[in-house]
This record gives sequence, C-alpha cells and structure tokens, in this order.
Amino acid sequence: MDALNRPRCDAVPAWTQLQAQFEKSGAALDLRQAFAADPQRFEAFSQDAPYVFADLSKNRIDAVTQSLLFNLARQCGVEQYRDAMFAGEKINTTEGRAVMHFLLRKSALAQGESAPAAIKNDLAEVHATLDAMLGFAEQVRADAAITDVVNIGIGGSDLGPLMATLALDAFATPTKRMHFVSNVDGHELAALLPRLKVESTLFLIASKTFTTTETMTNARSAKAWFEAQGGTDTARHFAALTTNVAAANSFGISTTFGFWDWVGGRYSMWSAIGLPIAIAIGAGNFRDFLAGAQAMDEHFRTAPMEQNLPIRLGLLDVWYRNFHGFTSRSIAPYHSALRRLPAYLQQLEMESNGKQVDVQGRKLPFDTCPVLWGEPGTNGQHAYFQMLHQGTDVVPVEFVAVKKPRHSLPGHHNILLANVVAQAQALMVGKEDAGGHRNFPGNRPSTFLLLDDLTPASLGALIALQEHRVFVSGALWGINSFDQWGVELGKVLAKDIEPRLLSGDVAGLDSSTAGLLSKLR
Ligand code: F6P
Repeated sequence: MDALNRPRCDAVPAWTQLQAQFEKSGAALDLRQAFAADPQRFEAFSQDAPYVFADLSKNRIDAVTQSLLFNLARQCGVEQYRDAMFAGEKINTTEGRAVMHFLLRKSALAQGESAPAAIKNDLAEVHATLDAMLGFAEQVRADAAITDVVNIGIGGSDLGPLMATLALDAFATPTKRMHFVSNVDGHELAALLPRLKVESTLFLIASKTFTTTETMTNARSAKAWFEAQGGTDTARHFAALTTNVAAANSFGISTTFGFWDWVGGRYSMWSAIGLPIAIAIGAGNFRDFLAGAQAMDEHFRTAPMEQNLPIRLGLLDVWYRNFHGFTSRSIAPYHSALRRLPAYLQQLEMESNGKQVDVQGRKLPFDTCPVLWGEPGTNGQHAYFQMLHQGTDVVPVEFVAVKKPRHSLPGHHNILLANVVAQAQALMVGKEDAGGHRNFPGNRPSTFLLLDDLTPASLGALIALQEHRVFVSGALWGINSFDQWGVELGKVLAKDIEPRLLSGDVAGLDSSTAGLLSKLR
C-alpha cells in the first residue's frame, strides 16, 4: 500500500463493520457484565510496553470490537504510514517535511548498522548537536556563578521543557533555579526580573522559528533588562535554541543550539529545546530520557498490532470519538510532579489532530480530536470528578499512576494509590440508589497507565507513547497531524489589531471588535 495515499477510515470495510458492531452490542456493552462474564478480562485487556503497563480492561471494548479495530488499522495502512515516518518520508505533506522527532532519541548507528542515507546524515547531525548541547548543560551545571536559568519560549518551546523539568524534579540539581516565561503578558516576566541578578542568570531563548511574537517580546525585554543592569556578556548569559540560527545571531545571541524543520514544535523537547531539562537533570539523565523514548519508538515500530500499545490506544480513541461520540478525555495524573502533563498533552493532541479536513483538504464527514483536559489527582476528585461520576456526559478518563514514591513521608503514597484505584473502580462499578441523588450510573470507561517509578527513562517512554497514539488516530482519520494552520488566523488578526489599539482606527471592523477596542483604549 502507498503510505501517502492510504484509504481514510470511513472508506474501508472495517468502518462499516464497526458501525454494525456498535449498534449490535458496542453501545450497550456493560463493563460490569463484561468483568462478570470473563474472569480473565484484566489479563486479556492489559498490555506491557517499555516502562509503561496499561490496563485497558475498564474500556468499553470486547474481543470482537478490538479485532475489528485492528482490521481498521490494517485496512487504513497505519503500519505502512508508521514505517514511512520512520523511513524519513515527507509525511507532513502540507509543509513538505519529514517527521523525524524519533531520530532525536535514536542512539548513534552501531558498527555495520544500516540506515537510509538521508537519515544517516541527519542522525550524525543530531548526535553532534546533542553532544554540544549536553556539554553546555554540564558546563552550566558546574558553573556555581549561574544560579538562575530562565527559559523564554511558548507552546512546544515551553510546555515540554516545563512539564519534564517538573516531572523530574527528584533528579534535578538543587544548585539551579529553573524559571519558565511563556506569556506575553508582561506580568509574568516583570514579576521574575526583580528576583534575578545579571551576573547569575542564564536566559535561554527557545523558539523553533525565532519569530514568535510572545517569545521575541519577552526576549527583547529580558535583553533590555540585562543591558540596563549593566550586563554586557551576552555570549555567557544568553543562549538560543532554534532552527533559525541566523535570526538568533542577528538578535545578538552568539551561543546557539540548532535543530531541524523535521521536528514539530510540540515534538521538540528531545532536541536543543530540551536544554533546560538537561541543565536541571544532567547529561546522563537526559540521555536516559531519550533512551526511554527510543524504547517506546522501537515498541511502536516493531510490536505486532495486537500488542502494540500506541496502536491500541489510538484505536480506542477513534472508537470512543467516532462511534460512542465521546467529546473529551480527562487526564488524571496521580503524581504531583506530573501536574503539567495535561497541558502538555493538550498541545500534543489538540494541535496535532484538531483538524476538519483530510490530507487532501477534503472536509471530513466525521469528528476528530476530542478535548483533553485534567488536573492532578487527587485534586480533581475534590473538584470536577462529581461530573465524571454523575454528569450527563461520559468522559473517558486516563489515569497515570506511579508505583514507587520518591519521598519518605509515611502513609501518603498508600492513600494516593488507593484513591487512583478506587476512582477507576467507582467509575466502572457505579452504585445503585433508588433515591436518584446518590445513584452512580457506573459503566464509565477509563484507561490506567502505570509506571513503576517516575524516572527520566519512564517519562521519556510515557511521552513517546502519547506521541505515537496521536499519530495513530490522526493516521486513521486521514489528517496531517504535523501542521498547525489553525493557529495562524489569530496571529494575523492580532497584528492588525495592535496598531488600531494605539490609533483608535476601527474602520472595517465588526461592532463587537470595534466596541471592545474602544473600551480598551
Ligand atoms: O502558534 C503555535 C506554535 O507554532 C506551536 O506549534 C509552537 O510550539 C509554538 O507556536 C512556538 O513556536 P516557536 O517555537 O517557533 O516559537
């Protein structure tokens, strides 16, 4: 099958068969009955993948549905499409680019190991840059005079490094304070600057394009502050992480670490964009982070479909979105260090798959990306879980739990783990109460992802798993998961509004936009 000319999910026989299966028994599947009927259900619907154990048994699937879903993936050429990505083909067709974030975590070729020529060259560049970036990270770590590292970036140039730096706090050096400034709202930078000293601060300007308004505005203000405080050594106190090294140079930054156009912003924390992570956790741990992701890449690339966790999750996502009609998925990390995971996943999935046309630009006749949202458990339990248990919408929940704690406070972790298991159980079993108010309908689906320990390697694997499951649902829907044209219009209009806010010119604007401008002046 031609990987770039595959049938869309709604054009293959399995789609129609899944529709029939949904009507016949899928819609009515009751998890309580499914567990009662099959004592082996947990084993049958759980899956070991590198560093991640997944219990899928509390999802509304049975063996028939699952095998139809595998047929769907086969008929849509998901494996061929995956292989095309790993071969470096230009699968990001609207931008004419390859999609090779996996290469950022691939170890150097072993003696005699073969790879397509293009990949070989890129891999050599990846390793040269990685070595330089990690060398710089170690240099910063050893430099006692630098106490504060400020990452200025937004979207993929912020969320990944921030999420991972928080997640790996147990591995971080206590000698550096890491700060992340993303918002163009000056309150963010203005609140930080008075806490910094010129001689002990390193600014990292992280931007794939080095043109993003928010980042460039913050970078300009940081540089102006630095100079106003008497700072002169920009080579020591500023570094740029970007594919646009020329723009960084003309901005006045000579210390640069590059990456490539085949790395999407939301897939970029494995590249030079990961420098803040590397400064926090050190080169060895950063390499473990990459190795964990590579282990998941290999799992995705080689495991048969039936035991391929990213494929199974991606198929489940399509089953829920297109057949059950579920509109969102709630992410519930039961580890406070994973508190920015939901925000990270929002960009990963919603910027990738929030599309309404297929790769050929044809309007899709079915729904795509759900809304992702969430907060760390147990906090969510005391806020919106009411709705998850008794609301009118069914929201599949993705629990993420970690077996081993990294603190020694007695009791806490047992309570935490008891809660995550109980929530998944409660959503599924429900509780009959004739009075209505205390009735829990149950049969509410969830996936349970379990890490043994939250380490650089397991975090790398967890995130690569999420990247690949987004690839799978995008591949089935026939969309290009690697562009993001939907963010452009707002950017263009903001450029038009900006001078109008100063001039008061409202000519040609609708009355609401004009009215708001007048109020804001
Ligand atoms: O506007 C969206 C976006 O392009 C994201 O895809 C990206 O991660 C973010 O902006 C930041 O872009 P850059 O790294 O080029 O500053």
